[in-house]
Amino acid sequence: MDRYAVIGQPVAHSKSPAIHARFARQTGQTLAYEAIEVAPERLAEHLAELHAKGYAGLNVTLPHKIAVMALCEAVSERAQRAGAVNTLIRTDTGWRGDNTDGEGFIRDLQRLGIAVAGRRVLVLGAGGAARGILEPLLAQRPAELVVSNRNPWKPEALAEDFKALGTVVPRTHLSLKGDRFDLIVNATSAGHQGRMIALPGQLLATGGDAYDLSYGAAFTPFREWAQSQGAARIADGLGMLVEQAAAAFALWRGQRPQTAPVIEALR
Ligand code: ATR
Repeated sequence: MDRYAVIGQPVAHSKSPAIHARFARQTGQTLAYEAIEVAPERLAEHLAELHAKGYAGLNVTLPHKIAVMALCEAVSERAQRAGAVNTLIRTDTGWRGDNTDGEGFIRDLQRLGIAVAGRRVLVLGAGGAARGILEPLLAQRPAELVVSNRNPWKPEALAEDFKALGTVVPRTHLSLKGDRFDLIVNATSAGHQGRMIALPGQLLATGGDAYDLSYGAAFTPFREWAQSQGAARIADGLGMLVEQAAAAFALWRGQRPQTAPVIEALR
């Protein structure tokens, strides 16, 4: 039986084993998928060991998504641009790294009927989570793509890194006063501290949508803010989690599972 796993620390709370078990049942495939706790200082050792044991693929979660890149034989272009790897595919001699997070994000927007093309899009935050969605967002041809942060340097660095793919407008949160956006994506980690970031009032255009890359308790502050802004649709990142898993499953198994029933089951 082909074996897969998610590696991270902590990893016990990971929903990936349940998601992949549902995908396997749904597609009639037989596979094993487990969660393996891996400490950062033992990452290289674990990767070699799992390869030797014959694992066919791995998902990579915090805190290893960046460090694992240097341990891959090859890293896909989209993962290089995202600056992180979340999926490993076995080769005869090692691991090939890819990143399905951005694809998962766009597929979830499509599932929800939230358009990007021709709209003014604001990404809040300029860390790793923001970096991971810029390439697929630009590919959808927004009217404008703005990235804002507390300080201007991180968005400026992102704008520079992505300029070959399109225009990313760097801003600070407070400089957004008076602007209106059709889609606001929260890519900050503030919700994990139970907070919403400080923003000028009325940033969302009439009919505008709000999407948080986080889910669970971390989603609450942004959800409440989006409600106060009169957002037409408000979504959390649970759909993106299932969609990135489906994209990894498709890379490994050559078959794309249906995501909607799995998202529903997880809610
Ligand atoms: P991740 O990989 O989750 O993106 P990260 O690289 O540490 O994590 O980036 C976190 C992002 O959330 C950053 O944009 C950070 O803003 P700063 O660069 O100004 O620190 C943002 N962030 C985290 N906590 C925040 C808070 N309380 N208020 C505003 N922004 C916050």
